[in-house]
Amino acid sequence: MPSEVTGSLSPLEESMGRAAASADWFVHDRFGMFIHWGLYALPARHEWMRYFEETPDDVYHRYFQHFDPDLYDPEHWAAMAADAGMKYVVITSKHHDGFCLWDSKLTDYKATNTPAGRDLLKPLVEAFRARGLRVGFYHSLLDWHHPHFLIDENHPLRNHPDRDKLNKARDQKQYTEYLHGQARELLTDFGRIDIMFYDFSYPRRDEQGRPQPWLGKGREEWESEKLLQMTRELQPHILVNDRLDLIEQGGWDYRTPEQYVPREGVTMDGKPVLWEACHTFSGSWGYHRDETTWKSADQLVQLLSDTVSKGGNLLLNVGPTARGEFDHRAVERLQVMGEWMSRHSRAVYGCTRAPDEFTSPRDCRLTHDPEKRRLYVHVFAWPFKHLHLDGMAGKVKYAQLLHDGSEVKMIEGGPGDVAGPVEQQERAGLLTLELPIRKPEVTVPVVEVFLK
Ligand code: GLC
Repeated sequence: MPSEVTGSLSPLEESMGRAAASADWFVHDRFGMFIHWGLYALPARHEWMRYFEETPDDVYHRYFQHFDPDLYDPEHWAAMAADAGMKYVVITSKHHDGFCLWDSKLTDYKATNTPAGRDLLKPLVEAFRARGLRVGFYHSLLDWHHPHFLIDENHPLRNHPDRDKLNKARDQKQYTEYLHGQARELLTDFGRIDIMFYDFSYPRRDEQGRPQPWLGKGREEWESEKLLQMTRELQPHILVNDRLDLIEQGGWDYRTPEQYVPREGVTMDGKPVLWEACHTFSGSWGYHRDETTWKSADQLVQLLSDTVSKGGNLLLNVGPTARGEFDHRAVERLQVMGEWMSRHSRAVYGCTRAPDEFTSPRDCRLTHDPEKRRLYVHVFAWPFKHLHLDGMAGKVKYAQLLHDGSEVKMIEGGPGDVAGPVEQQERAGLLTLELPIRKPEVTVPVVEVFLK
């Protein structure tokens, strides 16, 4: 979170405070669905496919001409997200290819002009809201389709022989105006929006610190401060991610580690900040037919436990198909996660990193509900019979397995009577939980510990 501010505040700083005050739901809910859906679902080989293959506009156009998601059922998507225990959704209004899912007044490059023939975003927003999920937009700062977006090193035409000539005819300012105009539409026409996930900045500056927009782009090119201010004016409670190139300026509400697990909770200047890790089921965000590196359901549940144990949120991505369905591999995994969440959400919602006085037993993660004063031990590798909680003797009222509410017996000190002097010393303050021999039939078993 932006550093503490004293004295007079700039409008940007003032609005940051307001947003931070409305972050309670975000910290409570912990688990959201990311959706990457657009024309790249047709080639089905990564949402950056146009970049990798350096595809010219006229060739990429074939996907625009064939985008016909006849099986699209946003109510069903929302049901799958809710059943998985997800509490919010962040959907790509536009990705880097520039294609818009909604009926933007500022472009023809939108779903209404494809065989889909309709606004695909509005019904999604309505369906998820009807299920009680909060709604956020992922909006790409890059745009590979817009005629005034200066071709840079992240552009499909970066190696085009006439690149410099093409760039001469481009006026980045006009693109920036379009970007702001579209953000205004998204933040005006869809009711309450809780998250804006702008993506992304890659500033390049010369030795004098001057921006080099034909190489990279950042806060100067996007006019990020202005964009952020407008975002907050239109939706004062909104949370904005950290990719506008305004990190040092404090123009962000939460950090977004992508496709990796931070070792500890995320901090800035030594203080914990809001953060949300985003992950794919496999490597690509858009639907990728032939990708095989899918995480197992066990890994995904562990990812959620691990993230919350470090005080973060998990935004887990689905890349729906060109017909408008969730990939069966995603459906299977969401079901396992939902099954787990149906009995373990208490160890996720309202939970965070446990205070330092509690040390996690080996192969476990701790989450903590400070309001209910409960500690949750997520057991990643089932031990033989005993789980040792150091320094916890005398601090616990009761313990149970969370999935079935069955008592877990507690022994003060360690089990057995064969102990040397070292072990005896270590037993001071030790609380040992007595587990069943067999691991329960649960993806990640959790022991619920009621603190005194
Ligand atoms: C990256 C990628 C993008 C993906 C996003 C998700 O910035 O460019 O394809 O949408 O991360 O966080």
